[in-house]
Amino acid sequence: MIHISEILSLRKRIKHWKQQGLTIALVPTMGNLHAGHIALVTGAKELADKVVVSIFINPLQFDKKEDLLAYPHTLDEDKKKLESVGCDLVFTPSVEAIYPDGTATTRVEVPVLGVILEGKSRVGHFSGVSTIVNKLFNMVMPDISIFGQKDFQQLILVQRMVLDLNMPIKVIGLATVRESDGLAMSSRNGYLTATERRIAPLFYQQLQLIVTAIKNGNKDFQSLQQSAAKRLNASGFIADYIEVRERKNLQIPLEKDTNLVLLGSVWLGKARLLDNIVFSLK
Ligand code: PAF
Repeated sequence: MIHISEILSLRKRIKHWKQQGLTIALVPTMGNLHAGHIALVTGAKELADKVVVSIFINPLQFDKKEDLLAYPHTLDEDKKKLESVGCDLVFTPSVEAIYPDGTATTRVEVPVLGVILEGKSRVGHFSGVSTIVNKLFNMVMPDISIFGQKDFQQLILVQRMVLDLNMPIKVIGLATVRESDGLAMSSRNGYLTATERRIAPLFYQQLQLIVTAIKNGNKDFQSLQQSAAKRLNASGFIADYIEVRERKNLQIPLEKDTNLVLLGSVWLGKARLLDNIVFSLK
């Protein structure tokens, strides 16, 4: 596995591969890799000749400075994991290389999608995400890029950005990887205490209950969402939102919409947990 930190060296290597007619997949990450990330890399290997994984803890997408400071740096372990699954290149640019002026003077915004749900609670977060993903796309120039469906809003937002800006990149979402008790894998699970970790699977269970009720004909989304939030709050979570949305644009679904997604975000102790279930109505 090649390890590159300089943008110029990355460009040279990418150019070399492109001259050989090889296709490139990019898996953007912030490191602290778990089995969910590794599944993205394995999936990417099946879809392109070369797989590039970027590891960059992007200051621009953290709405709280303490979260940025607390974010784990685990490069040595991450490199071992990537090497073991055949990643071709790990790109680890410095903050100075990415934001030479200390911040991004030019930003990429995806209006509406960037300020609802997760974007409403974490102001500026998606502006930071779309800006860094854009910059990484300009540096790596991948044919495809792989994202986890766990961050469903991020996936839809990046797909929208690529469409709107005519970028020749296929953005693919791969299924959420779960622990055996159903909890979606996430770097944030590391912030849970042992007691919190034991109750954490209740979150996904509540989402599953809502989807089952809807599939069985209950169309009162509002009351299903509220009851689930109440139950979670009674169990020690603080529910931020639990909402059924239209899948493609994440707007409130109309009667005729059948391709839906249930998105949720809850606090459990210090961890903000995200999860979702994609489903269709007949
Ligand atoms: O999902 C993440 O880890 C980040 O938001 C991403 C896509 C790597 C951008 O920094």
